[in-house]
Amino acid sequence: MRTVRVELGERSYDISIERGILKEVGPMTAALGLKGRAALVTNPTVGALYGDVVVKSLEAAGFKTVVITVPDGEEYKSLEEAGKVFDALIEGRFERSSPIVALGGGVIGDMAGFVAATYLRGVPFVQVPTTLLSQVDSSVGGKTAVNHPKGKNLIGAFYQPRAVFIDPEVLKTLDERELRAGLAEVIKYGVIRDNEFFEFLEKNADKLLEPGEEIIKAIEKSCAIKAEVVGRDEREEGLRAILNFGHTFGHAIEALSGYGTFRHGEAVAIGMAMAAGLSAKLGGCLECGPRITALLKKLGMPFAPPAIGAEAFIGAMRLDKKVSSGRIRFILASEMGKVFLKEVGEDVLREYLSAGAGR
Ligand SMILES: NC(=O)c1ccc[n+]([C@@H]2O[C@H](COP(=O)([O-])OP(=O)(O)OC[C@H]3O[C@@H](n4cnc5c(N)ncnc54)[C@H](O)[C@@H]3O)[C@@H](O)[C@H]2O)c1
Repeated sequence: MRTVRVELGERSYDISIERGILKEVGPMTAALGLKGRAALVTNPTVGALYGDVVVKSLEAAGFKTVVITVPDGEEYKSLEEAGKVFDALIEGRFERSSPIVALGGGVIGDMAGFVAATYLRGVPFVQVPTTLLSQVDSSVGGKTAVNHPKGKNLIGAFYQPRAVFIDPEVLKTLDERELRAGLAEVIKYGVIRDNEFFEFLEKNADKLLEPGEEIIKAIEKSCAIKAEVVGRDEREEGLRAILNFGHTFGHAIEALSGYGTFRHGEAVAIGMAMAAGLSAKLGGCLECGPRITALLKKLGMPFAPPAIGAEAFIGAMRLDKKVSSGRIRFILASEMGKVFLKEVGEDVLREYLSAGAGR
């Protein structure tokens, strides 16, 4: 069993990574001192594949378990669907000591976490992430949310889980496109924090799409980097912003291409290549752009910016959360494994984007 600790004082918790850990979710949840009833929140896709194993494990450990199923899709990460989960909890007379267990990708984790943060002012929450993205990113760090018609993740809370249980075996049933999208965040951790990890990914690129030891190591390292960053800056008042490397361009690409054209991770992949290009232009890392692009290429991931005009790009980035007085905030690379925050004027961006942004 590989364990990564998220250090947050009395709210610290372990991320446990192990093949077959789904069967241990019950006893490991009980070992946290939780008992009574459990609500398993999942969707029909993941529930059909893994719901039974987790329910059996919870029941065998003494939890009377109710399964709450939310339809599959980002559009259901809404207040309306969260309302239905609250209804089920109230109807089932779930109490303050009853854990909510999220079994699914980031959509389920974010929404179940939001419900756990607010139901009875907070009930114990356990994450069982089943996509690569949720295993390396969304299940760790305590950001929970639902979307609003006006924007993603506008309603939410910082609320840490009591434990995260990661079973790499579940990646076998995950669509390869989803797997690649998750790899974008894995690569990001190397760029922002760890040159050696980036080298490991370069060396093992051909093995990362298989559920072997390399991807398990990549999951562990990614969780460790995220845990370290979150442990120092839980509420994104400073350091945590480095996790947004590639995301300012990425969010604009997602918005301008129409949500659904690119998976979030694909937009982030392109955004990282663009951020690395901008870094080089502004005196930062010269080798980062070519190395990131080569790795993305090896993994069959997109890296070239789509044909979007500079003005549209800048307009979309202005709407993002990272703007102050006409300058847009970017995380840029100074060398592989090290990043810095820089506010970039729109004139500089216009020039970079008009010149093709490294296309
Ligand atoms: N909280 C955070 O810090 C944070 C960070 C990044 C992203 N997010 C959020 O995460 C969400 C995206 O998460 P995602 O990429 O995991 O998408 P997702 O939850 O929509 O899952 C993608 C698809 O894979 C299916 N699936 C999940 N596990 C599977 C498995 N093992 N086998 C087969 N199919 C499986 C799902 O049913 C779904 O259809 C977004 O809402 C985003 O805002 C949150």
